[in-house]
This record gives sequence, C-alpha cells and structure tokens, in this order.
Amino acid sequence: MDAALRAAARAGEILRTYDAPKRAALQIHTKSSAHDFVTEADVAVQREIVAILCAAFPAHRYIGEEEGADGIGDASCPYAWTVDPIDGTTNFIHGKPTIGTMIALLRGEETLLGVIHRPFFGDTFHAVKGQGAFRDGQPLVLRKARDMDDAVICMNLRRGAQRHHDGTVDVRIPACASVENYGCAVESFCQVLLGHNDGVMYDGPHLWDVAPGCLLVAEAGGFERHALRDPADPRGSARCAAAATKGIFERLEAFTFKD
Ligand code: IPD
Repeated sequence: MDAALRAAARAGEILRTYDAPKRAALQIHTKSSAHDFVTEADVAVQREIVAILCAAFPAHRYIGEEEGADGIGDASCPYAWTVDPIDGTTNFIHGKPTIGTMIALLRGEETLLGVIHRPFFGDTFHAVKGQGAFRDGQPLVLRKARDMDDAVICMNLRRGAQRHHDGTVDVRIPACASVENYGCAVESFCQVLLGHNDGVMYDGPHLWDVAPGCLLVAEAGGFERHALRDPADPRGSARCAAAATKGIFERLEAFTFKD
C-alpha cells in the first residue's frame, strides 16, 4: 500500500502540471476506436507508476492500460498490478477535473488492494482486503438508498450502444431515480464512495477500470461483482456491478450479468 500510495501521489503531481496550454499541445492518438484516446501524458504517468512499484516489487507483473508494462516481472509470479494512469482520458483532453489514477494489486483473480487518486480534487481512496475503505484516512460512509426509485446509478451509456442509420443510438438503462455518465470510472466509483450516488454498472471497460473501485465499495460495506469476459485475457473487456446496498446491487448485477 505504501508503494501504491506513493505511485498514485506521483501520478497526481505529473497530471497537475497539465494546465490549459500544456493540454492544448498534447499529442492525441486513438486506440481501439475513434473515441478511445491515449496521450503522451497517459504513457508518461504509467511509466512513472510502474517504475515506483517495480522498485519495491521487482518480480510482480503488470496489467497496464497503456503499452510498455507487458513482460515486466517474473512470468510465474502470482501478483499483478492493474494500472490506469489516466482514467477519463477524454475528460483530461477536454480540461475537466473529473479524471483519476487507479491502481490495484491482484493475486490471481483476487483483488488485494485498491487505490484511486483524483489529482484535481486532491483526494485519495484506499482499501486493503478485509481492512475497510478510506478517503484520506477517514472511513467511508455509503448512502443507503430505499430502493431503485431512490437510487442514482452511474454507467457508461454510450459504450456498446448500436448506432442507427439516422445517427441515433438506443441505450438500455435500469429504471431508477437517475442515471449519470461521467466518462470516467473513477468519478462513478467516487460518487458512490462519497455517499452521493448508489451504484455503478459497467460493461465493456477493463480490469484496470473496475478492480480498485469494486474493492473499495465492498470494503466500505457495499456489494460488488466484477469479471473479465474472457478469464484467459486479463487485458480484455470486463463488466461490473457495485452498489451500497444489497437490494440495489442485486438489480444491477441482474442487469449487467444477464448473459
Ligand atoms: C474509460 C472511462 C469511461 C468508461 C470507459 C473507460 P479511460 O477509461 O473509465 O468512463 O466508459 O469504458 O475505458 O480509457 O479514460 O482510462
């Protein structure tokens, strides 16, 4: 945890140097689709995080969002770090403060620790399995929604939606008080961890987008389920449902894990 917190803090230091002029000069490239971006900041921050973790744990492996971390460590080591240097890259490019860095340590499929740092809000969430969840050292208190009619749910609305000839998309959303889409898994999880919102559901992002937040919600007294679509492909797509109460969790789980 000490190494993970140091790495997240360093990521925040670098990200805060990106003021408007520096962001305007960013080299932006696309990855898997026309709206999946990577910038030199994503790559630089991941490199820095991996260097800090690697110095502490040379045998550990990495499941990093950006290139450059595959093949590090000992292939037979059971420990792997997931690293998302900038979650919400589109928000970052647009100059929004809703971005963050996420780090988790896995042993096989089990998440042992999770860290989320929001550089522009200046806060850090951390959890070790079985030891509770904290924001800047203070225990988290989740909201207890009455039922789905009282629940505000975060999800990635656009992802996976089918595009029609007229340029529109249809999206299935759960019946609830409101659905919010921040373009940033960090923000989705943090709104639940802060006790503002009630649940998160994602289908299509990656392990590095969901593992830390799911552990944090569970350790704060909530409920979660997350899984890779193909367990043999740790860099492949994942899905998750996480919520503050069991009732809301079960509704989101049924929605997300229906096939
Ligand atoms: C993305 C964000 C977004 C989610 C995408 C993720 P990135 O992460 O978390 O909210 O809908 O699926 O890929 O690419 O900005 O790190």
